[in-house]
Order: sequence, then structure tokens, then C-alpha cells
Amino acid sequence: MQTLTVGLAERSYPIYIGSDLLGCAELLLPHLPHKRAAMVTNTTVAPLYLEPLRAMLQTHGVDIISIILPDGEQYKNAETLGLIYDALLSHRCERNTPLIALGGGVIGDMTGYAAATYLRGVPFIQIPTTLLAQVDSSVGGKTGINHPLGKNMIGAFYQPQVVLADITTLNTLKDQELRAGIAEVIKYGLIRDLSFFEWLEQNIEKLLARDADALQYAITRSCQNKAEVVAADERENGERALLNLGHTFGHAIETGMGYGAWLHGEAVAAGTIMAADLSCRLGWLSKEDMDRIRSLFERAGLPVVAPALGVEKYLQLMGLDKKVVGGKIRFVLLKSIGSAVISANVEPELLRQTLMANSAHG
Ligand code: NAD
Ligand code: GLY
Repeated sequence: MQTLTVGLAERSYPIYIGSDLLGCAELLLPHLPHKRAAMVTNTTVAPLYLEPLRAMLQTHGVDIISIILPDGEQYKNAETLGLIYDALLSHRCERNTPLIALGGGVIGDMTGYAAATYLRGVPFIQIPTTLLAQVDSSVGGKTGINHPLGKNMIGAFYQPQVVLADITTLNTLKDQELRAGIAEVIKYGLIRDLSFFEWLEQNIEKLLARDADALQYAITRSCQNKAEVVAADERENGERALLNLGHTFGHAIETGMGYGAWLHGEAVAAGTIMAADLSCRLGWLSKEDMDRIRSLFERAGLPVVAPALGVEKYLQLMGLDKKVVGGKIRFVLLKSIGSAVISANVEPELLRQTLMANSAHG
């Protein structure tokens, strides 16, 4: 097992990464001093992992209230969030009752937001069970829900007390979901870690084959990158925005196609190709780097062509991005592999060319 720390002074917390960690009571018990917690999961993850975890904690005297939500990005909304509050209130959960998120990024984001807002804040524990959640969404404290007009538009920064990433849980993940997580892994190489990108070029097949050592390495390296960025810029006043590489385009794909039609990681992959293409058109990224990026996404089995929403629709959806300032879209772009920048000065014509060249024509 490897232990990393997200360094945020008195709100610092550990990330534990390893195999078979769900059975390790000693990692969770220090965070459950009041012997009661509410565990939020969904109809897919509950039959796989809820009962053993609940039973294990029960043997240590911890009473678990189970909250099982419908599964899917289309349920990451105010109505489903309300189900969490309903359960917490009906079980008379108090300020010292932690909320435990057991699942992927959807469960983690919603549970975190419920923890940030229920009784104005209760302790929060992340047990991510998808690759995407283990390398990205469980770390850093971004929580929230979608709005029909835009992805993740309602939310709060709220850090967990501990993140427990059990690599063994990834064995039950669908191939398509594993690949979606790899999109966020590649992101770290692209924005700030050239040697990790090179490692991924060498080892992508091992990751796809779920080689435990390769997964452990990739998750740890991703979390190291994320922890450093979050420690330096928790509230995204600067460097943290680089973590959104491909997301301005990707969120437009997710919203435009209807939540759940494209997986988040798939939309980020196609969106990252668009961001790289735009960087090429600006004369920043070399053609050689562009080819390497496209090739790695293709080898990972991720989409490199965005869906046919039409240029005007893309522009309209991207105008709702959280990074828009003064009406101008701020893009995360690449200078080279391993070096990203933010720019709001993109010629509208270049953007149109990127959207045309990298989306299907329906
Ligand atoms: P997800 O939560 O929908 O999980 C993907 C699928 O895998 C679901 O059907 C889920 O039930 C299933 N699943 C989860 N664990 C499983 C397991 N071990 N075995 C079998 N099936 C399992 O999707 P995701 O890709 O984990 O997360 C995407 C979400 O994360 C998006 O809503 C995105 O906006 C959000 N996100 C948040 C941040 C952040 O910083 N907070 C960062 C990146 C993404
Ligand atoms: N996933 C982007 C961030 O955490 O900032």
C-alpha cells in the first residue's frame, strides 16, 4: 500500500492506494469515532461491495446506514441529491455522522456535496471504486451535481477526511469504464508530467489488461500530481484550472448529447484532442506531439472524434463553462507534451476550424 498526503494545513488528508484495502478496518476506524456513518452508493456497486464493507465495520461496532441511489450520470441532479438528505433526516443523522461515498465519480461528487451542505457540513470519506474516481474525482474536494443547462454547475469545494482507493475493486469495472478513467490518467502526463506520458506510451497495454503493478503505479503517480496541484491552488484561482484540459469541449459533449450518453472520460478524450488541435493551430504544439497524443488515446480505445452537435451548438454550450470570465472562454491549451497554459485569446475562426475538423458531421 502507498500513502500520499494532500497538504492543506489543518484540512490535510491521506490517500491510501493498494490492493484489498476494503478489508482494512484500521484505515477507516480512526475516522469513525462515533461508531455511526451513512454510506452512499448505487444499485450497481451495492451488490458488489456494500455488504462486506458494512459487515466488516459492524464487527468493529460501527453502525452503517445504507443509502442506495439509482446508477448513472443522468441521476447526478438535485432530485437524487434530495434522496440523500431524506435518508439522513429520517435516520436523524447528526453533525458528527460521516458520509461515506462508495462508488465512482458520480456517487463521490453527489455524496461530497451532500456532506458539504447537510447540517452545514458533516465529515466526508471517499472510497472510490472506478479508475476515474481513484485518479481524479475522489481527490481535491470538488463536489456537486449537474444542472440541465450545464455539467457540475452546482457545487462546493469540500475536502474528504480520507481517500481509500482499493485497486482490487477495479477488477469488476467494465472495459469501457476502465478506458474512460485512462483519459484522466493521460491528462496528468499532458499538463505537467512528460516522463509519466512516456511511461504511459510504454505501458498502456498493461493498464488495459489491469496489471496490478501498472495500475498501482499509474494511480499513485496521478494522485501525486493531483495532490500537488490541489495543495498549491485548492480553489482554482490559477494552476488547478489546468486539470480541466479537454473539459471545456468535453462538458459541451456531455451536456449536448444528454448526460450519460457519452462517459465523462470519453468526452474528455475527444475534448483533449480538440484542445491539442487548437494548440497546433495556434502554432504552439508540434505536429509530432499531436500525433503522439492522438496515438495514445487511440491505443487506449478512447474516442478521438467528437459527436456531431454542430459548431453553433458547441459554441453555445461552451459559453456556459465555469472557466468563462467576462464572457470569454478560457481554454487549457498545450505548449508541448507536459506543459499546459490557460489562454482566453483564441481567434473565433481558429476555434471554429478545430470544432469542424474534430467532430463528426451528422
Ligand atoms: P460513474 O460514477 O458513473 O461510474 C461509472 C460506472 O461504473 C457506473 O455505472 C458505476 O455504477 C460503475 N461502477 C463503479 N464502481 C464499479 C466497480 N468497482 N465495479 C463495477 N462497476 C462499478 O463514473 P466515473 O467515471 O467514475 O465518474 C464520472 C463523474 O465524475 C462525472 O460526473 C464527472 O463530472 C465527475 N468528475 C469529478 C471530478 C472531481 O474533481 N470532483 C473529476 C473528474 C470527474
Ligand atoms: N477534475 C478537476 C479538478 O479537480 O480540479
